[in-house]
Amino acid sequence: MHLHCGNVFLTLLNFAGMPMIMLKISFLGGCKDSELSSTRLLEKSLSQVKTWMEHNRLKMNDSKTEFIQFGSENILPLMLTSKLYMV
Ligand SMILES: *[C@@H]1O[C@H](CO)[C@@H](O)[C@H](O)[C@H]1NC(C)=O
Repeated sequence: MHLHCGNVFLTLLNFAGMPMIMLKISFLGGCKDSELSSTRLLEKSLSQVKTWMEHNRLKMNDSKTEFIQFGSENILPLMLTSKLYMV
């Protein structure tokens, strides 16, 4: 079975005058391999954004960085990931 790893989408937002970066990835809910490979990709992307920000004299405030999952109520309880780690 081929698992779709998904692509990371990056969006820059202006949230009440504050710049905000949103990273988004989608994957096959309830499929462990798909979730884990997507999570690794998201963590790698987050690290790349943080490095890019540092090179541009910007600082990512870790305490304001949130990880949010969206999904149907029968899939969300199957999720293994509760937090992201910078790699
Ligand atoms: C990060 O954000 C928190 C909450 O707004 C703030 O208290 C803290 O000073 C910020 N840290 C830095 C390094 O700016």
